[in-house]
Amino acid sequence: MEVKVKVFRFNPEQDKKPHYETYKLEAQPTDRVLDMLEYIKGYYDGTLSFRRSCAHGICGSDAMRINGRNYLACKALLKDLHTNKLTVEPILGLRVIKDLIVDMEKFFEHYKSVMPYFINNDPPPAQERLQTIEDRERFDDTTKCILCACCTTSCPIFWASDNYIGPQAIVAAHRFIFDSRDQAAADRLRILNDQFGVYRCHTIFNCTECCPREIEITQAIGEVKAAIMTGKV
Ligand code: SF4
Ligand code: FES
Repeated sequence: MEVKVKVFRFNPEQDKKPHYETYKLEAQPTDRVLDMLEYIKGYYDGTLSFRRSCAHGICGSDAMRINGRNYLACKALLKDLHTNKLTVEPILGLRVIKDLIVDMEKFFEHYKSVMPYFINNDPPPAQERLQTIEDRERFDDTTKCILCACCTTSCPIFWASDNYIGPQAIVAAHRFIFDSRDQAAADRLRILNDQFGVYRCHTIFNCTECCPREIEITQAIGEVKAAIMTGKV
């Protein structure tokens, strides 16, 4: 079928403001938006800039806004979009560097702020640090995050202020707060109790709806809020 792909274009070295270019191409229902962008770059305009690496939903580098919703371009199949007219734009709330590429610095700053690594100051045991299957299940969902930023950049609270720590950083913190082997839950909860922390979330659910890993983000945020309120994890 013929597909019209309208793509956000902006080269700050040449353009005073962004504009859109529309490309027509033939595609199969099983083609992904990433395939179409590769085709446009290969056959129409080699200057089109976007990020991608694995092309299989693992690296998290090709988050973009497709018909108004955040997706990984490598996981967005034409048949699932139910239209042959696509509008492809950069994710919102972060500065555009060129075309579909945004500056991820602020996003990673928030990620790093919650200490997203295992902390346990006890001497390591002879073998591994054990935990029960039930304890492991408490944070299983939030281990799946691939840092794509679909969630944080779909959040209107983040659009209003990029000081908001955002759903991804809360997911990253959740993964360690509820790990029975970790010893820094109180520190992370204190960080998330900041004025730009977890209570900025108004339970809008945009994050959960667009997460390509199907993480129950809003539930994780709710568990973190409850842990702050009760002082218990
Ligand atoms: S929680 Fe989901 S949407 Fe957010 S960064 Fe992780 S994988 Fe992407
Ligand atoms: S290119 Fe790696 S997740 Fe899409």
